[in-house]
Amino acid sequence: MIGLMPANDLAVVILAAGKGTRLKSSLAKVLHRAGGRSLVEHVVTACAPLKRRKTVVVVGYQAEQVSAVVEPLETESVMQQPQRGTGHAMQVARRALGAAKLALVLPGDAPLIRTETLRSMIAAHRGANAAATILSAVVSDPGGYGRILRKSETAVQAIVEESQLTDEQRELNEINSSIYCFTLEKLWPALAQVKPNNQHRELYLTDAVTVLAARNETVLAHVAPDPREALGCNTRADLAEVDRIFRERKRAELMNDGVSIQLPETVLIDPDVTAGEDTVLEPGVQLLGKTKIGQRCTIRTGSVLSDMLLGDNVLVEPHCVAAQSRLDDDVVIGPFARLRPGTHLKDGARAGNFVEMKKTIVGEGSKVPHLSYLGNTRVGPKSNIGAGTITCNYDGFGKHPTTIGKGVFIGSDSTLVAPVRIGDGAYIAAGSTITENVPADGLGIARGRQVNKPRWASRKRRELAAAEHSGKKARPRRKSKARPKKSRRR
Ligand code: UD1
Ligand code: CA
Repeated sequence: MIGLMPANDLAVVILAAGKGTRLKSSLAKVLHRAGGRSLVEHVVTACAPLKRRKTVVVVGYQAEQVSAVVEPLETESVMQQPQRGTGHAMQVARRALGAAKLALVLPGDAPLIRTETLRSMIAAHRGANAAATILSAVVSDPGGYGRILRKSETAVQAIVEESQLTDEQRELNEINSSIYCFTLEKLWPALAQVKPNNQHRELYLTDAVTVLAARNETVLAHVAPDPREALGCNTRADLAEVDRIFRERKRAELMNDGVSIQLPETVLIDPDVTAGEDTVLEPGVQLLGKTKIGQRCTIRTGSVLSDMLLGDNVLVEPHCVAAQSRLDDDVVIGPFARLRPGTHLKDGARAGNFVEMKKTIVGEGSKVPHLSYLGNTRVGPKSNIGAGTITCNYDGFGKHPTTIGKGVFIGSDSTLVAPVRIGDGAYIAAGSTITENVPADGLGIARGRQVNKPRWASRKRRELAAAEHSGKKARPRRKSKARPKKSRRR
C-alpha cells in the first residue's frame, strides 16, 4: 500500500514572509501582481497539480493579507514573526509539516516556475535518494543570486550568497533558484548548525545546503530547462519582465485556440480569459478577470473588458469599458460605451456611443444608440431609446427601477424619473420629463407647450441696432471723465 503512493510523503512549503525591501513598496512583495495574479498565487498554482500531503505558506509581513490570498487555494499558513531569514522560515514551518518526509520548498517570489520542472526535480531527488536537491539555472546575468559551487559534475559543494562571493566566484553563472527538495530528517540537524553569519544577522537556508554538502550528504543541483523559471522578483524591473513573459504565454495560448491578435505585444490578457475561434482582438485591447468571449467576435482597439461574458458575433467598437456584464449573440456596443456591473444586452441589442448602463437589461434587438444613461432599468425587446435619454434612478436616498416594455419608442432627451413604467408599444414625446407610468400604446408627453411669437426676432434686431447707434455717441465722453472718478471711489 505504502509503495503505491510514495507521493504522500511530500509537503510543499512556500516562503512568503518577507517584506521585499527592494521593491520600495508598502505592499508585501508576494502580493505584487504580474501576469494578472499575485506572485504567490502563481507559485501556489504551479504546485497545485503535485501529489502532496499539504501546502504550507510561511507568512509574516502583512500576514493577514497574504493568508487571505493563499488560504482559499487549499493551503495552510504559518506565522513567522519576526522574519529571521529563509532558514528560520523553514524552522517555523516544521510543526505544520507533520509526518512528511520530503519538503518541496519554494520562495513566494518565483512565479514563472512550471509544474513539470518541479515534477522532474522531485523525481531526480527521489531517484538519487538525495539529502537536498537545488533547482539551479544557468544565466547570463547572475547578479543578485546565490551561486552554485560544484565539487564535481553532479555534486554540489556550497551555495554562496552574492554578498559573500570571492572575485573568482562572481564569474559563476549557475544560480540558486531558491527552490529545493529536502529530505527532512537530514535538513533539521543541518539547519540547527547554521549561524546567522551575515550582515543581516539572518539564518540562511542556503547555508543548510552547504552544511549538508560538507557532511558528504548527497546534494544535487537540477538545472531548470528554461532559466526564466528561476527568476525571483526583487525589483520593479523584475516584475515588469515577469509580467511581459506571462502576457506573451497567454497570447500564444489564445492564438493557438484560433484567436487573431493584431500587434500582440500591445494586448493584455489575464490568465483565466477564454476566447473562441475567429475572434479578433485589435491593438491595445485588455481582457481582464474571468472574461469569456465566444466565436467570431471583434474587440476593437482600446477596449477594456473585465469579467465579461460575450456570446458569438459580438462587436465591441473602439474604446469601450465594460465590467461584470453579459452580451449575447450579435450585440454591438460602442464606440465609447461604458457598461457597469449587472448589465445584460440580449441577442442583437445595441448600446451606442457615449452610452452608460448599470444593472440594466436590454431586450432582443432593442437599441440605445447615443448619449444615454440607463440604471436599474429593464427594456423589453425591439424598443428604441432616443439620444440623450436619462433614467433618474437615484433620488439621493435610494435606487429605483425603470421598466420599459417591448416595442417602445422613447423620444430624444427624455428623463424618466424612477420608479416608473412605460407600457408595451408606448411613445414618449421628445424632451419629456416622465414622472408617472405611461400605459401600453399610449403617448407620454411632459414638457412646456411651445409658443411662437411672430416677428419677435426682427423687432429685437431693430431695437438692438437703435441702442448701439445712440451708444456710440455717448461713449467717448464717459471714457475720458467718468472712469478715473469711479476707480478713486473704490
Ligand atoms: C534567495 C536565496 C538566493 C537565491 C535567491 C533566488 C537565501 C539566503 N538566498 O535570495 O541564494 O539565489 O533567493 O531568488 O535564501 N522569506 C521568508 N522569511 C524570511 C526571509 C525570506 O519567508 O525571514 C521569503 C521571502 O518572502 C521570499 C523568499 O523567502 O519569498 C526569498 O527571500 P528573498 O529575500 O527574496 O531572498 P533573496 O535575497 O532573493
Ligand atoms: Ca528573491
